[in-house]
Amino acid sequence: MCLKDNFTIKKEPVILGIESSCDETACAVIRGRKLLANQIISSAAEQAKYGGVVPEIASRMHTEAVDEVASRALEEAGLTVGDVDAVAVTYGAGLLGALLVGLSFAKGLAYALGVPLIAINHIRGHLAAAYLDEPELKPPFVTLLASGGHTAILHTKDYLNFEVLASTLDDAAGEAFDKCARVLGLPYPGGPNVERLSKEGKEGVKLPSALVKHSSNTAFSYSGLKTAVINYCHTAQQRGEEYSKADVAYAFQRSAIDPLVEKTVEYALSLGVGCVTAGGGVIANGYLREKLSAACKKAGLKLVLPEKKYCTDNAAMIASEGLNQYLAGNFAPMDINACAAIPLKT
Ligand code: KG4
Ligand code: ZN
Repeated sequence: MCLKDNFTIKKEPVILGIESSCDETACAVIRGRKLLANQIISSAAEQAKYGGVVPEIASRMHTEAVDEVASRALEEAGLTVGDVDAVAVTYGAGLLGALLVGLSFAKGLAYALGVPLIAINHIRGHLAAAYLDEPELKPPFVTLLASGGHTAILHTKDYLNFEVLASTLDDAAGEAFDKCARVLGLPYPGGPNVERLSKEGKEGVKLPSALVKHSSNTAFSYSGLKTAVINYCHTAQQRGEEYSKADVAYAFQRSAIDPLVEKTVEYALSLGVGCVTAGGGVIANGYLREKLSAACKKAGLKLVLPEKKYCTDNAAMIASEGLNQYLAGNFAPMDINACAAIPLKT
């Protein structure tokens, strides 16, 4: 007997989602596609003291916060734990110790309640953030994924399946934002700080585009762009020349984002899907949001852009993907382990 035969599938289940893959301890509750609660306790301010995420600090803070964040979410939803029909939790990718805190909590809760445990690939969670913004949204559509670990354009064919149309050959866009921030001496978290500084910048610094050709396919490369930023800054420093960090941030942001927007729209038009969605931390970038909105409008494409708080790590997206998996009866065994790295398509 498979796991799904053990449970009755409801049409509008109450799903409690838990996310603890990095420095946010988060819990959300949905009923069907309706978001009832979304709570986050972040250790970002603590991590900023060290210039980045320290895994041991993240694990400890998740341990302190997970019970509290779940209680707050149930209270916000106006529900009790007995109302929960399934528990969805990120099992990878992420920091192993951090993931284990959320996963262990979710296992205990699902077991005690006698409800299904749903193991979520964090990146699929980012993709499912679009359904929070528009509960009636139905595939197919083209999705721009840009996070700290992934950068790709996907053809989302149905609620469970997608095809990768183009992706990065090396670093992810978010990773490049963070590295650019470090070179410019900006504090953690890098991405939002590069965005802030770029607003004071102007045209002038020449940097390569992140768009590359890879055996006649479209692909992106962020490692070359990162190296170009390092070279530009170091050369100026060695020559004792003044340079504008804001102008570097301005040029970097355009080189990193323009090709993602351009290619996303091109794919949507060539596939004739009529709709574009987006997900991942970099999608919180204001320049990207404006550029993608304008490009979709010009091309006559519908754009479903999740609110910024659903682009960066959160548990609402985990609950949202939880519903996709719940309706398909994809439940996890209680001995499932956390995975630091899992392929995009898992
Ligand atoms: O999706 P996410 O929260 O975590 C992962 O699953 O990776 O993405 C984090 C990444 C970081 O690299 C961060 O610098 C970037 O998203 N990010 C941004 C912005 N906000 C977060 N990048 C550019 N502009 C932003 N406003
Ligand atoms: Zn994420």
